[in-house]
Amino acid sequence: MKPAAALLCLAVLALAVGASSVDTHHRQLDQRAALERSAPFYPSPWMNPDADGWKEAYAEAKKFVSQMTLLEKVNLTTGIGWASEQCVGNVGAIPRLGLRSLCMQDAPVGVRGTDFNSVFPSGQTAAATFDRTLIYRRGFAMGKEAKGKGVNVLLGPVAGPLGRMPAAGRNWEGFSPDPVLTGVGMAESIKGIQDAGVIACAKHFIANEQEHFRTPGDPVKEALSSNIDDKTMHELYLWPFADAVRAGVGSVMCSYQQVNNSYACQNSKILNNLLKDELGFQGFVMSDWSAQHTGVASAVAGLDMTMPGDTEFNTGISFWGTNLTLGVLNGTVPAYRIDDMAMRIMAAFFKVSKSIELDPINFSFWTSDTYGPLHWEAKKDYQQINYHVDVRADHGNLIREIAAKGTVLLKNTGSLPLKKPKFVAVIGEDAGPNPNGPNSCGDRGCNSGTLGVGWGSGTANYPYLVTPDAALQAQAVQDGSRYESILSNYATSQTQALVSQANVTAIVFANANSGEAYITVDGNMGDRKNLTLWNNGDALIKHVAAHCANTIVVIHSVGPVLLTDWHANPNITAILWAGLPGQESGNSITDVLYGKVNPAGRSPFTWGATRESYGPDIMYTPNNGADAPQQDFTEGVFIDYRHFDRTPATSPDNKVLYPFGHGLSYTSFSYRNLRITKSHPSTYTPTTGQTAKAPTFGAFSPNPKDYLFPSDQFPYLRHFIYPYLNSSDPRTASLDPHYGQSAAQFLPPHATDDSSQPLLRASGGRSPGGNRGLYDVLWDVTAEVTNTGKIIGEEVPQLYLSLPGEGQPKVVLRGFEKVRIDPGQTVEFRVRVTRRDVSEWDVGVQDWVVREGVKRVWVGRSSRELELEGVLP
Ligand SMILES: *[C@@H]1O[C@H](CO)[C@@H](O)[C@H](O)[C@H]1NC(C)=O
Ligand SMILES: *[C@@H]1O[C@H](CO)[C@@H](O)[C@H](O)[C@H]1NC(C)=O
Ligand SMILES: *[C@@H]1O[C@H](CO)[C@@H](O)[C@H](O)[C@H]1NC(C)=O
Ligand SMILES: *[C@@H]1O[C@H](CO)[C@@H](O)[C@H](O)[C@H]1NC(C)=O
Ligand SMILES: *[C@@H]1O[C@H](CO)[C@@H](O)[C@H](O)[C@H]1NC(C)=O
Ligand SMILES: *[C@@H]1O[C@H](CO)[C@@H](O)[C@H](O)[C@H]1NC(C)=O
Ligand SMILES: *[C@@H]1O[C@H](CO)[C@@H](O)[C@H](O)[C@H]1NC(C)=O
Ligand SMILES: *[C@@H]1O[C@H](CO)[C@@H](O)[C@H](O)[C@H]1NC(C)=O
Ligand SMILES: *[C@@H]1O[C@H](CO)[C@@H](O)[C@H](O)[C@H]1NC(C)=O
Repeated sequence: MKPAAALLCLAVLALAVGASSVDTHHRQLDQRAALERSAPFYPSPWMNPDADGWKEAYAEAKKFVSQMTLLEKVNLTTGIGWASEQCVGNVGAIPRLGLRSLCMQDAPVGVRGTDFNSVFPSGQTAAATFDRTLIYRRGFAMGKEAKGKGVNVLLGPVAGPLGRMPAAGRNWEGFSPDPVLTGVGMAESIKGIQDAGVIACAKHFIANEQEHFRTPGDPVKEALSSNIDDKTMHELYLWPFADAVRAGVGSVMCSYQQVNNSYACQNSKILNNLLKDELGFQGFVMSDWSAQHTGVASAVAGLDMTMPGDTEFNTGISFWGTNLTLGVLNGTVPAYRIDDMAMRIMAAFFKVSKSIELDPINFSFWTSDTYGPLHWEAKKDYQQINYHVDVRADHGNLIREIAAKGTVLLKNTGSLPLKKPKFVAVIGEDAGPNPNGPNSCGDRGCNSGTLGVGWGSGTANYPYLVTPDAALQAQAVQDGSRYESILSNYATSQTQALVSQANVTAIVFANANSGEAYITVDGNMGDRKNLTLWNNGDALIKHVAAHCANTIVVIHSVGPVLLTDWHANPNITAILWAGLPGQESGNSITDVLYGKVNPAGRSPFTWGATRESYGPDIMYTPNNGADAPQQDFTEGVFIDYRHFDRTPATSPDNKVLYPFGHGLSYTSFSYRNLRITKSHPSTYTPTTGQTAKAPTFGAFSPNPKDYLFPSDQFPYLRHFIYPYLNSSDPRTASLDPHYGQSAAQFLPPHATDDSSQPLLRASGGRSPGGNRGLYDVLWDVTAEVTNTGKIIGEEVPQLYLSLPGEGQPKVVLRGFEKVRIDPGQTVEFRVRVTRRDVSEWDVGVQDWVVREGVKRVWVGRSSRELELEGVLP
């Protein structure tokens, strides 16, 4: 290559920010010339020891990190390799200072891969409660269970995927495609988890919206790129992460895929600019498992911990470990950066724990045997590795309550609640057990029997699974009802014979499943192939309804399914969405069907009539040859209800069967008396000033000889990742034929700059979550909600805004409350509307602005049942 061409190439590489290597970049330059790119943002912001909520933690961290050697700091940042110790991820220990290896473990519904733990309802089901207290309690209980096993970082909660596309495999792990509801879910979960003494991990950062092509691999050589404009990023995808940072989350996991053609774990725009600078995140960024693709480039782009440490599982080599030690010694990774990584990790640690003396990790993710190798991959150090500690406490009751209160009564023409029915017939596989046992498929990678959680790394082993059949039968026996169930979706004639009998109440169960890409179930590679029910579910429901005038349908699913063909059938007297309820499934649905719990769930997504009417959809076939598939988020903020509302009212695509926020109760509520009071907050002040210069903590020897393995007798474990050098010659130790490129040769400008930096105007200065003025209350909105029925019930009044200007959604959710109201009583619903609630992101100014114009406010029971209307003065 001619020098001039080489220079040009390097300049473009710098702009594209740490593409995986110059070579791959060459290949793709042409194709991508016209595509979106990520702008560089350097240097990586260093922590602010005075940040609100972090002061004490940083004081402790400083004491600790000041005593650490370079090798110890590298140990803390680098995973020791896949399956090298007990957890799904471990970092190196710091024996000299008495810190054992930190344990990272999944997460979203309970402690994964162990026993005597609970399986909680999914995040999406928790979101359907619209209940802050229940979401907090779920987080706290999950945190306690993790702590009881010795976990230090619980790998959740999830706001990516947000839910751009209803068929995306992992939507159920998160909360809702609405950013405000997800933001509340994130904040309450994080507070709960961290109050229990475990670091939470907000993931997957960011725009990780589908499973297909999330990682490089046949047929694509690079992972999919989510191409998102800055305004959409701020107003939709980043919003719930801002809430997570504001809630004090200790860690954030960068995602697998690329954003604007730069891998999320080396994308300086998202990590340095958005997360650490603008949002003022003070904790550490951890890679998703093997989501790191470069060493030095990811370090300067803002990554603080690599998981599980090896380049790919069990290669025995790492982009960090030895390479990070070398990078710091040769100056391509500035000293402040490794100190900042260590400070961020230890500050998150001290934010939730008082002492570095930790109880031992008492389970092994890799086996359920009591005895086995501590170092699973190396098969070394046989000892007791599973203590089978029962961490469930009384969480079963909470699980039952959350799943019941997250069940959405979509339709009820009067058949519910059940009152000692004469004869109950329960139909469908989804009501019964998996004949091979609830844990028979690894990571729940099959769809057999009742669906309690989806599949993938976001699962846990059931301690038991109460099936709907078991719980409903027990209730029927207690009531003196007759009871029969057919736990098959294909017993057509037997089903007809049963449900055609006199006095029958037929309850049909059906499901739709999805999960993570590494498992394919019935042709669904993580993402769903379709939005219909699985295993003949629709035909089963239609069949029962054709023969029974009292058919009740219960759906367990990972998101919306198409109810189009049968929801209006008058023989279908009730439809319930029971989400993914976890271990107490049968008890929860029985509580709702029999009115022991008055339904209080609200749908966290829209129920559309067709798949197409949802707008953006999964990319199943790559659109860029073998190069990174390009997924352009051209719909902007218009997903879910915002999308449906944007289509012309006359279009069939505008039709929704049940809107976002919808859910019935066994009582009824009325709304009145909307009142708006203007507050008088100070005006918005863009943040100004400079940061301090990057601090460093402790000098280190520049001599590679001081970093060799401690002795010739070192008990080197197979495929284990160490911070040490094998040779005092750096090139030899690096095992890297390209070793020797200086920072100036391959890093973008300012990547190693440790001088004082200007603060971003939208940032919060000391206050995590962005400019403080965003959270000023501008209006106080109240309304009265009355229980007009005969029994106690819970309502979820919702506040929506219509913001002025072109290109705004018809309405956006900005507040909600779960209120319990006695019959005949009235309660006041109140939302404090903040500046953020009425702002939009101005790309030119790079800040939030409030646009002039009429701002309409609505209070109602769903996004399309807006009872009260007003204007914000
Ligand atoms: C992606 O590119 C768009 C269009 O240039 C830009 O607005 C946005 O800020 C970029 N985002 C990232 C993370 O690079
Ligand atoms: C790094 O971590 C490994 C594994 O936990 C440990 O054996 C080693 O002593 C640690 N090294 C230092 C310098 O602390
Ligand atoms: C299990 O680990 C927890 C947390 O580290 C600890 O409190 C408990 O004592 C341990 N139990 C056993 C049997 O090791
Ligand atoms: C250092 O990183 C390079 C890739 O950048 C890799 O080829 C090499 O094996 C790594 N070295 C070690 C010791 O892990
Ligand atoms: C410094 O170390 C890193 C990590 O091994 C390597 O990629 C880079 O080429 C080295 N640069 C110099 C100038 O030695
Ligand atoms: C049971 O069915 C019979 C025959 O259809 C009917 O006469 C009777 O009223 C029903 N009883 C109840 C309790 O539904
Ligand atoms: C949708 O996918 C599920 C799961 O693979 C399958 O059972 C069902 O038959 C499919 N629906 C249609 C209409 O093909
Ligand atoms: C409703 O059920 C009755 C049997 O009870 C059946 O005769 C009728 O055709 C059904 N109606 C519909 C619309 O399926
Ligand atoms: C370092 O040396 C040990 C033997 O002492 C060897 O087993 C290991 O593979 C070497 N590691 C690297 C990354 O070269």
